[in-house]
Amino acid sequence: MNLRTLLTAVFVLTLFNGYGQYNPLVIPDTISGTTFNLNMKDTFVQYLTGNQTVTAGINGAFWGPTLIFHKGDTVHMNVQNNLNDSTTLHWHGMHLPAVMDGGPHQVIPPGTLWQPYWLVTNNAATFWYHPHLHRMTQAQTTAGLGGFIIIRDSTEATLALPRTYGVDDIPLALTSRRFDALNAFNDSCSYGDYMLTNGVMSAEVSLPKQYVRLRILNAEMERGYNLGFSDNRTFYVIGTDGGLLDAPVPVTRVPLLIGERVEIMVNLGSDVVGSSFDLEAFNAGMPFGFPGSEPSSTGTFGSLLNNVNFPVLHINVAAATTGAITTLPASLVSNTYWTAADAVLTRSLTVTDGNPGPGSIPFNFDHTLFDYGTINKTVPLNNIEQWTVTNNNVFGHSFHIHDVQFKIVSRSSGTVAAYESGWKDTYYLPVNESVTFVAKFTDYADATHPFMYHCHIAPHEDGGMMGQFVVVDETGVKTPANVGDYSVYPSPATGRVYFSFTDPSMQVYYITITNTAGRTMLMLPRPQLANGIDVSGFAPGVYFVQLIDEQSKKTITKKFIKA
Ligand code: C2O
Ligand code: CU
Ligand code: CU
Repeated sequence: MNLRTLLTAVFVLTLFNGYGQYNPLVIPDTISGTTFNLNMKDTFVQYLTGNQTVTAGINGAFWGPTLIFHKGDTVHMNVQNNLNDSTTLHWHGMHLPAVMDGGPHQVIPPGTLWQPYWLVTNNAATFWYHPHLHRMTQAQTTAGLGGFIIIRDSTEATLALPRTYGVDDIPLALTSRRFDALNAFNDSCSYGDYMLTNGVMSAEVSLPKQYVRLRILNAEMERGYNLGFSDNRTFYVIGTDGGLLDAPVPVTRVPLLIGERVEIMVNLGSDVVGSSFDLEAFNAGMPFGFPGSEPSSTGTFGSLLNNVNFPVLHINVAAATTGAITTLPASLVSNTYWTAADAVLTRSLTVTDGNPGPGSIPFNFDHTLFDYGTINKTVPLNNIEQWTVTNNNVFGHSFHIHDVQFKIVSRSSGTVAAYESGWKDTYYLPVNESVTFVAKFTDYADATHPFMYHCHIAPHEDGGMMGQFVVVDETGVKTPANVGDYSVYPSPATGRVYFSFTDPSMQVYYITITNTAGRTMLMLPRPQLANGIDVSGFAPGVYFVQLIDEQSKKTITKKFIKA
């Protein structure tokens, strides 16, 4: 060990052990309204002494802004990819058209602006967004790309819950990283060695002496967190992935796997101002198969944080705020969940392969690795379906499905815990267990563009533990009309280009604009064209519009000139 490595290690361990040295928790900035400008870029952070760490951020250096949506609004996203690589941006947990979903199919080339939009129909809850490019999810999320989405609605607004963002309502993204000798993030190990809470090592925060609300996201690559407080105090789960529970659920521990969110309320009303305690991962002694329970401290599946208890956030108790929430509501919202009896179709998935050894292939479902060319399931629009995922394999997983919020109706190990009894889009699938959920696939049929289901453990999904499904409207199948033609005007254009259709009933599925070098400038799913498309930022030259017709899915290419 040379001197710098030694000093770095001492510095890191000092931070990690927290001998009086904590770093202030970063609370991500918020963006509200209906237009959201997100700039994805490569950048760096000074985590350790010596070299800076190369990171990627969205409007910042690590992680991204918290997007505040209101249910009932239509939100418009301007996602600018200023990374050096292609990427995608997925809105985890959102119910939206597949073509807006940002899964592995919505590849945004470098330098391109992608403009999805959708009507917010999800209930008030905590969601997130992150890259989802096949085989690149781990590298790009390790670099720091991601962010929270908070949805507010009128039902939640009437409840006496903490909701002053950054004061008594705190988003916490939990992850960890391993650094190499040059202070770069290792983006191929499963487990980091150092806890990062909202991107901060050894984070501390002052919270007021009252009920506070923590919106906790597991934003890891693989590790699960068995969360609790250092003094074992009882806290209350008020919400799961997709919404508030009927009533708060008292717990002292809650497990949180990758992609899952939990909203909790914790009472600091009896704490002494100036005292402190920790939010902690009680991962020591977790059974094998719980990600992060492996005993080793080094190597691909080892980590300094494996199978130990470690602090996640140091909390200092400060004075109460005016208007403090000092009581826990007895009830929250009244949910009507789907039951197994509602299901018109039963499907099953089985975790297969992934056994270590020569010639082994990565984890997958039903011996089928993800393939862009294969639609694994076809779901009729408005079906209520029961899906059972069985894991008699070698390790635990975190199962996630796009498009829907579901209700877990059974676990083969016993009962479904009250803290996961609400709307979910992701859940822990332990080894030797089957989990059954029921979901309704409403609103958005698209026979062309699939949604995903997958394990959310980054190395597993990158390895191909994913499948894709289309939602089809069988009642609405129309014979594709003759494709109409269109023209783009004016050409040459200076500010905006407009579209005129020979058949005014023609609907546009997708528009991509490229330059003569083939570089993609704009990606516009189902664009609303009444106000044209802004091309004022384009360099003078020739551009190609590739327009895909909604009915026929045929592509018609036109050219225009930017003056
Ligand atoms: Cu968090 Cu397929 O997504
Ligand atoms: Cu998702
Ligand atoms: Cu997995």
